[in-house]
Amino acid sequence: METYLRTERVTLRPFGADDADLLIELDSDPAVMRYLSGGEPTAPELVRERDLPSIRAGYDRWAGRFGLFAAHEAGDGAFLGWFCLRPEREGPLDEVELGYRLRRAAWGRGYATEVSTALVDKAFTDLGVRVVWGATMALNRPSQRVMEKVGMTVTEPLPTPDDMLAVEGADLGGYRYEITRERWARRAAEDRGDVI
Ligand SMILES: CC(C)(COP(=O)(O)OP(=O)(O)OC[C@H]1O[C@@H](n2cnc3c(N)ncnc32)[C@H](O)[C@@H]1OP(=O)(O)O)[C@@H](O)C(=O)NCCC(=O)NCCS
Repeated sequence: METYLRTERVTLRPFGADDADLLIELDSDPAVMRYLSGGEPTAPELVRERDLPSIRAGYDRWAGRFGLFAAHEAGDGAFLGWFCLRPEREGPLDEVELGYRLRRAAWGRGYATEVSTALVDKAFTDLGVRVVWGATMALNRPSQRVMEKVGMTVTEPLPTPDDMLAVEGADLGGYRYEITRERWARRAAEDRGDVI
């Protein structure tokens, strides 16, 4: 298995052409999809014909440097969900989105924080990134906590996209979070106890 990133408990690897069922099962849980589709599962044919091909095209587009990757438990190899670190489709390579979607069984064990911390470190250390950003609905506290714990802060309120108007809390909109390389470096220096 090719590895994109390894943390203490989690391994990220590219999705293969045969992995549609992992994504279909993940998106079939209404709790997972609560702040994404209002709980509606993603139709299996859309996963097979739209989502998985688009994820795999990203590996070529960004030469394996960025993308959306399958997360597995390092110990028993269980599928946990996915994380992404990627620019917008035609966007600048130094401005990348952090995202995550985990199976319910994996929630509340610190996996999202552990992997997101490592992805942000990789972005600024190895990948020449200037800004990592993420977007979340106002009611999605778990997602916001992950971003806050990796040092991201709210930069602006976001309107709810048209295709998410049925989601609970759509009237409250969402937030864009960001961390810049300068802020990340300052936090890292503080963690090391350097005098700044
Ligand atoms: C968002 C998500 C990835 C978080 O994963 P996770 O591995 O459970 O997150 P962590 O264990 O690292 O916990 C992160 C923080 O969120 C908090 N949290 C978790 N569930 C919470 C809840 N229901 N309400 C409030 N805070 C919650 C945790 O307590 C922790 O904060 P703390 O350390 O201050 O206590 C997971 O909930 C998920 O996959 N949700 C569905 C998909 C989704 O909404 N993705 C994000 C779209 S923007």
